[in-house]
Amino acid sequence: MIDNQPESNNEQEVLTNRQGHPVTDNQNVRTVGDRGPTVLENYNFLEKITHFDRERIPERVVHARGAGAHGYFEAYGSLGDEPINKYTRAKLFQEKGKITPVFVRFSTVIHGGHSPETLRDPRGFAVKFYTEDGNWDLVGNNLKIFFIRDPIKFPDLVHAFKPDPVTNKQDPNRIFDFISLTPEATHMITWLFSPWGIPASYRHMEGSGVNTYKWVNADGVGYLVKYHFIPKQGVKCLTQAQAEQIQSKEFNHATVDLYEAIENGEYPEWEFAVQILSDDEHPELDFDPLDPTKVWPQEQIPLLPVGRMVLDKNPTNYFAEVEQAAFGTGVLVDGLDFSDDKLLQGRTFSYSDTQRHRIGTNYLQLPINSPKTKVATNLRDGQMTYRVDGVEAGENPHVNYEPSSMHGLKEAPKSGKDHTPYVEGPVTRQKISRTNDYGQAGDRYRAFSDEERDDLILNLVNALKQCNPDIQERMVEHFTQADPEYGSRVREGLQQSQAM
Ligand code: HEM
Repeated sequence: MIDNQPESNNEQEVLTNRQGHPVTDNQNVRTVGDRGPTVLENYNFLEKITHFDRERIPERVVHARGAGAHGYFEAYGSLGDEPINKYTRAKLFQEKGKITPVFVRFSTVIHGGHSPETLRDPRGFAVKFYTEDGNWDLVGNNLKIFFIRDPIKFPDLVHAFKPDPVTNKQDPNRIFDFISLTPEATHMITWLFSPWGIPASYRHMEGSGVNTYKWVNADGVGYLVKYHFIPKQGVKCLTQAQAEQIQSKEFNHATVDLYEAIENGEYPEWEFAVQILSDDEHPELDFDPLDPTKVWPQEQIPLLPVGRMVLDKNPTNYFAEVEQAAFGTGVLVDGLDFSDDKLLQGRTFSYSDTQRHRIGTNYLQLPINSPKTKVATNLRDGQMTYRVDGVEAGENPHVNYEPSSMHGLKEAPKSGKDHTPYVEGPVTRQKISRTNDYGQAGDRYRAFSDEERDDLILNLVNALKQCNPDIQERMVEHFTQADPEYGSRVREGLQQSQAM
């Protein structure tokens, strides 16, 4: 057990209220006589109870259950045998040994803030790098890919996976109703229902940016890039039976594991690696490099380590640091850029939008979200304004606009040439042409060991046997398209389960 109690201190600080008034009685409300009723001018009581009434903020609409830790990223200063500045001018990667502080939040996706951490569900892996050029957020998951490639489908995907709006219970029939009409999800479902679908802990899982981003060098040349974290502790997962066994005793096991490891000085560490492609459509590939339902096969596009990440400090307050942490895919630094991946662009709107609602207009002034560099903006006011960004940096307090000749803020110099991709085409609503919804699902099925395939079929059959026959039929068809054996084994499993 970890002893969290500070050493006993006889010289205790005096309790005050938020107005700074010493509180002389924190045990009794003010009443008429000792039996009440209470009187309305109980200022301290009203402050205390009304603040308590507002202690919770809305949960994240997804990824509500999570745990976080502080640490650092150490750069290797190169990309394989090449200088890294050939590909990106982002400062955090340039020098060997350069340290950038980070805050990481791991999460499950579907259920609420205190739900079990043993569920079959992707895991979130969100990293905030506090770089010298401001913050960079990499908001990823543990499975390298995603269910969909078009952001307009995201609310439907989440609704299908969340509890039924009538019974308030998650229902495989709703999940597979949606998935059976979403062929591009076949690859992700194959991973999720395989033995890789329940990570043993947050320390023992991979992380991946999933979406394709860009790196930009000093000449403004862009490259397509995918990001990966590989745990030095190894990857460990739970079988369904192991997960159920753990859940019967401790449903916070992943949070406890992370916290205790760090308290005990066993700091988890990940290698941070990238895959790089030139910035074009790559017609030689049988998938689109901007499609987040696909992996970039490592045999074709190697993983190149660029640094390591260590987590060595637990939060001092869960709410302030973990619950109020706000990560978003739009938060990039100079030398990093967006690709045309549609899912990435949809996400980029969604994160800061939800955070203005979930935390508040000034969520970026909170210490966990604020960069560790100087912040100097002309943004002003709004609920819970805590500081005036530009003035602390030396701006004339009368000037909250730009341009100005009166000692206001001025635009920053450019650090390199702009990356100016040329895009043209009809404005349309259309799928990408290289969908290849089943190719990598089939490759994955065939790459699994016999035991992994057995477990995949068992987990799928156990979920699908709760579904309507037409949904089962459509799912079997998707698996058959991926690999005929895959489809026939799920079909046989379903037939046997119904015979029982
Ligand atoms: C169009 C697709 C998506 C949309 C619209 C979307 C939207 C959201 C929203 C609204 C949140 C809550 C954020 C907050 O309250 O702070 C969230 C959290 C999160 N999402 Fe997504 N998401 C999408 C796809 C993805 C994908 C593909 C991944 C993985 C690569 C992902 C990883 C995460 C993670 C890790 C979090 C939790 C961040 C944290 O720990 O605070 N999301 N997402």
